[in-house]
Amino acid sequence: MGEGSISWVDGAVVTIDQRALPHEVRTLRLTTVDQVIDAIATLAVRGAPAIGVCAAFGVALAAREHGGDTARVEAEAVRIEAARPTAVNLSWGVRRALVQLPGGPEAVLAEARAMLDEDGRVNRAAAGHAADLVQRLCPARPLRILTHCNTGRLATTAFGTAIGALRVLHARGAVDSVLVDETRPLLQGARLTTWELAEAGITHRLTVDSAAAWAMATGQVDCVIVGADRITADGAVANKIGTYGLALAARHHGIPFIVVAPESSRDIATATGAEIIVEQRGADEITTIGDYVAAPAGTEVFNPAFDVTPPELVTAVVTENGLIEDASPAPSSPESRGGGEHPEVAAAADRTAETVLGADIAAVAAELYARGWMPGTAGNISARDGAAAVITGSGLSKGQLSPADMVRVRIDDAEVVTGARRPSAETTIHTAIYRSTDAGAVVHVHSPHATAATCHGATTLRFGGFELIKGLAGGETVDVPVFANHREVAQIGTDVARYLDANPTAPPVLCIAGHGITAWGTDLAQARDRAECLEALCELASLTGRHDITTRIFEEQAQ
Ligand code: MRU
Repeated sequence: MGEGSISWVDGAVVTIDQRALPHEVRTLRLTTVDQVIDAIATLAVRGAPAIGVCAAFGVALAAREHGGDTARVEAEAVRIEAARPTAVNLSWGVRRALVQLPGGPEAVLAEARAMLDEDGRVNRAAAGHAADLVQRLCPARPLRILTHCNTGRLATTAFGTAIGALRVLHARGAVDSVLVDETRPLLQGARLTTWELAEAGITHRLTVDSAAAWAMATGQVDCVIVGADRITADGAVANKIGTYGLALAARHHGIPFIVVAPESSRDIATATGAEIIVEQRGADEITTIGDYVAAPAGTEVFNPAFDVTPPELVTAVVTENGLIEDASPAPSSPESRGGGEHPEVAAAADRTAETVLGADIAAVAAELYARGWMPGTAGNISARDGAAAVITGSGLSKGQLSPADMVRVRIDDAEVVTGARRPSAETTIHTAIYRSTDAGAVVHVHSPHATAATCHGATTLRFGGFELIKGLAGGETVDVPVFANHREVAQIGTDVARYLDANPTAPPVLCIAGHGITAWGTDLAQARDRAECLEALCELASLTGRHDITTRIFEEQAQ
């Protein structure tokens, strides 16, 4: 059936029977409303976008069958809409087709065909945006991505949403491997996602759903990407049962949790996730596995097909319009949304911003590590985020950080707010700088020339005569303080704070004896530039032998 999974051929909806996979690629021809309803209810056709388009063709079949009997077609539409309650795409597909009913059966069919045409384009756009975001959030290495259920060309009509993002990342050479949840009880992951990933040549491993949290705990997951069946106005996400648990585990481990879905999966008419109807399915889906009876006869079950992940656990929802907090869904104006941005939407934007900040820190760290300025696990980087700072975790190689390796600490007292790692041992120096200056970012590197220059007991490095001084200060000379390297890091923080409070015009750089450079600026790039500038001055002083000024300071200290 090529790359699409649904088509309209000679008066029939032609699709792949997803119940038969992976054993058999069986074609299904649906020519009546009852067949459409049965295919959707039994998951022969499944996945929110796929059932939306299939439902629209169901309305087209009803319109062809009942001609001008509008009431009859509408009654059939209601039956189709009731086939599964959770995915909003089902009623979206039905409603969109029904709007064309006054134009006659051919108009309804044309609308269903238009939806089919759109779906692949929409999925490609959403997948591209999601891949861009994932690469911004996790820039450091080929990605280990975990996914749940099936969100590929089977679940849509072409390309896929979350799996679409995997396709894009794979095409960019950015995927190491995909961890596929088997997705109990109907095994959409084991039966369908593995089949699609094999077809696409994407390296993957299948695992039981209950291994996902452990995979995260053992550092095997950089990012979780899933689809959605309904996204409410507050940003809550209904998706295959097990998604909520993944989001909880991802949050605990500081791993980005990305939802990729078309705008047609958004339901802004429903205010919160609490209002979503979660489909409950039959006991036999749990008590039997194929022909195998897995539980005593008559065992009661709890078999919700979906769960609802609250917005605070979702890093970002990405649609064909980009991140939903950036997109302009109808109604688009703040007024039409009820007077200003919804606080939950703003909170979602904050969470995304925090993860993006972590990714930016990781990118600068990787660059400075590659230069040899953060040897071993040395150095640390932070950025201000309101009353908190996001800082690199302690004891980690700076060449391979991801947002999950960052810790959020309070600027007031350096206490940890969130994060699975221990914060850098030098956090108190960073927070002292944030308290005493308006710095937006702080970079601490063990670059060789500055480290060497501070090993002679000087308390100040004075530079004069180099044009580069302009990168740090306005005058002819610049005095860079060298702080004693106390074993108690908090003591260094106290010294730094006292010095900065007493010297409001001090240059935005300092050294700690034998301990490299600490530089700050409005953002990470400026803090890095200033560290570069000071390191270059130390190197030039050493190369040119112009130690006249610095030596005098050294000698003064020695007396
Ligand atoms: O019961 P299913 O298999 O239809 O559930 C499907 C899912 O939960 C998918 O993740 C969702 O529909 C998105 S498909 C692009």
